[in-house]
Amino acid sequence: MEVVGQAEGRRYAALIGQGGLAERVAVPREALLPVPEGLSPEEAASFPVSFLTAYLALKQAGVRPGERVLVQAAAGALGTAAVQVARALGLEVVAAASRAEKLALPQSLGAGLAATYEELPEKVRALGGVDLVLEVRGKAVEESLSLLRPKGRLVYIGAAEGEVVPVNPLRLMRKNLSVVGFWLSPLLGEKPLLEEALAFLLPRLGKTLRPVVGKVFPFAEAEAAFQALLDRGHVGKIVVRL
Ligand SMILES: NC(=O)c1ccc[n+]([C@@H]2O[C@H](COP(=O)([O-])OP(=O)(O)OC[C@H]3O[C@@H](n4cnc5c(N)ncnc54)[C@H](OP(=O)(O)O)[C@@H]3O)[C@@H](O)[C@H]2O)c1
Repeated sequence: MEVVGQAEGRRYAALIGQGGLAERVAVPREALLPVPEGLSPEEAASFPVSFLTAYLALKQAGVRPGERVLVQAAAGALGTAAVQVARALGLEVVAAASRAEKLALPQSLGAGLAATYEELPEKVRALGGVDLVLEVRGKAVEESLSLLRPKGRLVYIGAAEGEVVPVNPLRLMRKNLSVVGFWLSPLLGEKPLLEEALAFLLPRLGKTLRPVVGKVFPFAEAEAAFQALLDRGHVGKIVVRL
């Protein structure tokens, strides 16, 4: 990326809304995040959206150190960021993924328990439930709510499984549960919020927090990158290199 003015010659990742698959992008200066030494361009590109989402979503749910969080799709880009950020915030992590072979990665990042979606309900109940769920699957919402302890929170971040399930308010009432929605895009203009998140994330980036790069595709094979997302066999962030 070419950076002009004061920032010339330094490496930056940028937080952009849409249009990331472009050879040149124009971003406001505030959207530039300095890339620490030792982080590859692919790792830097994998950082902004996933780590800001993980941090701000956990904060929006009011997490406290010592609480236990269930991270759904924990081997994906957001999932691997969320496991690391949750650990850095002092949380205990339960990681879930669709296939057993995807579980070693979140465990290596600090998840104390990892389970496939099939094993998840039994294993979490045996553990006594969770305080928080980072929900990205969509159709698992009912099950996730049943795994929450009293006063637990479910943060609704996405519906990767393509199905949006309505929530029964009575389920929330009976255990004093909350469902919190989280979407990064509209928050990108909130300077104090971003500053607080980056003050936590940037000093740890490349040290205790490291983006997990999955497969890297050249720009000419961008279509194959999208197919890989659909095939769901990947772990970490799928990156397209320009
Ligand atoms: N709200 C926000 O601000 C925000 C910000 C960033 C991302 N997101 C959302 O969070 C989710 C995860 O994003 P990501 O960047 O981590 O993407 P990703 O690396 O592609 O991971 C998506 C994960 O979703 C799981 N998944 C479940 N059903 C799937 C399906 N039908 N097709 C493909 N994957 C499926 C897969 O894990 P398993 O195979 O283990 O299930 C996959 O690893 C997406 O839904 C994304 O839109 C939301």
